[in-house]
Amino acid sequence: MSSDATRPQIAIAGRHLAKKFGHVQALSDASISVPSGTVVALFGDNGAGKSTFLKLLLGIHQADAGELIIGDKPVVLRSVRDAQRLGVDCVYQDLALAPDLSVVDNMFLGHELTRQGALGWAGFVDRKEMQERADDALRRLSIKLPSLTVAVQELSGGQKQAVAVARAVMWSKTAILMDEPTAALGARQSEIVCDLMRTVAASGLGVLVVSHDLPRVLKVADEVTILWRGKTALEARAADLTVPDVVATMVGYRADEAA
Ligand SMILES: Nc1ncnc2c1ncn2[C@@H]1O[C@H](COP(=O)(O)OP(=O)(O)OP(=O)(O)O)[C@@H](O)[C@H]1O
Ligand SMILES: [Mg+2]
Repeated sequence: MSSDATRPQIAIAGRHLAKKFGHVQALSDASISVPSGTVVALFGDNGAGKSTFLKLLLGIHQADAGELIIGDKPVVLRSVRDAQRLGVDCVYQDLALAPDLSVVDNMFLGHELTRQGALGWAGFVDRKEMQERADDALRRLSIKLPSLTVAVQELSGGQKQAVAVARAVMWSKTAILMDEPTAALGARQSEIVCDLMRTVAASGLGVLVVSHDLPRVLKVADEVTILWRGKTALEARAADLTVPDVVATMVGYRADEAA
């Protein structure tokens, strides 16, 4: 990992993004900024456009208007590969791991190391090095698992999600985006994943997390962005907000209207 001096100030940001699917204006003016070393929560009601927003930041969809910034620079993403090349990776809600494969194999899925030279040419995978790198990545996040060679289907939900986070950390240099990473988890396991967000941010990456788990994620976040019907309704420090404040903005309640 590089030192703080070489870290960009803004790990990832989207400014005034718009995206239409047919007649549905999923996003009309969405902005968010994720500084390096921080956890930023993205909240919003169902259908507010949160997942669409993440997909624009990951290059899965292309915006109709607006600007993307990665590592302090304006970028255009044509695919997920472009985002990965710039050090941006993601963790999905549905635990996108291969259940039959081992922890190590899951951490390298799509990134297998091949041996140098002739064996490498023949496509032989260097198992020993893979195991060492996976072990190192898990250890840096203080993730404890019964074994690295066990199939991931034998792990608990929280352990699986921890593997998914470790995989993203291993392959990203800039930012990690998470869409509902605790949605499939119980309370204790959700705590573990939230603790991991802090550890990942402390390592210097930007962490952007979409969640409906307001109390837990508000506690772990440094900053909060709230989307309302495709627009950024609020950007604030998490410490300045309560859960009822967040809910009120999410559903479009405005104090001036209530007066
Ligand atoms: N690929 C698509 N094609 C057509 N419409 C889409 C597509 N993706 C999203 N939408 C629409 O865009 C709007 C925003 O959806 P999005 O999934 O971004 O919301 P969300 O905030 O993630 O909601 P949730 O909290 O329920 O996950 C919705 O009206 C949705 O139906
Ligand atoms: Mg969503």
